[in-house]
Amino acid sequence: MSGGFKEKRILLGVTGGIAAYKAIEVASRLKKAGALVDVVLTKGAENFVTPLTFGEVLGRKVYTNLWNEESEPIHIRLAENADMAIVAPATANFIAKARLGIADDLLTTTLLAIRTPIMIAPAMNTNMYENPITQKNIEELKKRGAYIMPPAEGVLACGAIGAGRLPEPVDIVNFAENILSQNLSLKGKKIIVTAAGTIAPIDPVRFIGNHSTGKMGFEIAKEAAKRGADVVLVAGVTHLKNPDGVKTIRVNTTEEMRAAVLAEYDDADAVIKSAAVADYRLAEVATEKIKKQGDELTLKLVRNPDILKELGEKRKNQILVGFAAETNNLVEYANKKLREKNLDFIVANNVKEEGAGFGTDTNIAKLIFKDGREIDAPIMQKSELAKIILDEVEKLL
Ligand code: PMT
Repeated sequence: MSGGFKEKRILLGVTGGIAAYKAIEVASRLKKAGALVDVVLTKGAENFVTPLTFGEVLGRKVYTNLWNEESEPIHIRLAENADMAIVAPATANFIAKARLGIADDLLTTTLLAIRTPIMIAPAMNTNMYENPITQKNIEELKKRGAYIMPPAEGVLACGAIGAGRLPEPVDIVNFAENILSQNLSLKGKKIIVTAAGTIAPIDPVRFIGNHSTGKMGFEIAKEAAKRGADVVLVAGVTHLKNPDGVKTIRVNTTEEMRAAVLAEYDDADAVIKSAAVADYRLAEVATEKIKKQGDELTLKLVRNPDILKELGEKRKNQILVGFAAETNNLVEYANKKLREKNLDFIVANNVKEEGAGFGTDTNIAKLIFKDGREIDAPIMQKSELAKIILDEVEKLL
């Protein structure tokens, strides 16, 4: 971790969820990173953790009550001192109150007075998280400038499986550090990134796939999140883990990818389609495992929808970036895709070239723009190419 927290004063709000115990480690990590941490516990949080624990970890006073302080408006002092506020875990109740501006305890009152960045890490039961009212509250807070760290997925304390877990303390602190220290040039922009390959199932045990690992697209999603964008990553088949701070939707087939991308498209500012999309699917997927019969097996394939072409036809103000994976005639084929799919630019890579294409940590590419301009990206880490691509997207936005 870099020194993003050195001499920074962080207000850490903890609300009443089972994940409140993780906030102790968040506080400890912030302290180790050089921050001065003011902890505010809600009444609910005190059912799970005590002020004493935080006090011991930080060697500082911990705040719980708006009313008991002597002779000073403690909420105003905490708000004015804070370089940033983090609320982790944030319950559905806290999120609803924050959205409405209800100020009925020290934490909500302090947050109303804060003028510096506020980061909120929701954690709750999956049904509560996915409830449209909670989602609406989160969207509204985002619109007003709050940074929402999407919850992790997995088995929750209540036994449910899904989204709602508080991310690990190290990830929370990294996310907060990015907010404090990064150039948030994409703040307020919604960017859809697609990554990895889609597959064409043959029967319950087999499929036709491709070599994409998702590395290229995941690097783009991570970089966009670092720059403060609201990132939706639609990922095909990959072993990579969901990047922090990115809403990740997992899909298998091209049709699933199409549905996921279209559902997010209307209010998106840009789409970057680095996924290797299966162009064909089986005319009929066998419902049982196909048994060996004879020396030959013929499979009938039918065309899949071209997702990017459809986005190009439906676009309003969105910036559209495609990739072209070619093995020959790179520039000619990439130019054709650029025009046919109505893109702003295309990232052409020759997947036969050493150090480029599938599975490598590096890539070699040429960015070709609709006005004919070209940018050569010689061999470099995919994370570096992601920066070049996003610099160009930013210029177009
Ligand atoms: O994932 P990695 O292992 O890191 O590898 C990276 C990569 C090689 C997959 C990546 O750099 C890359 O080239 N991605 C594009 C792969 C591809 O499908 O290219 P294409 O030339 O077939 O398609 C052109 C564009 O149309 C792509 O943006 C693709 O996402 C899109 N498309 C294609 C077909 C289809 N039915 N729908 C689409 O949206």
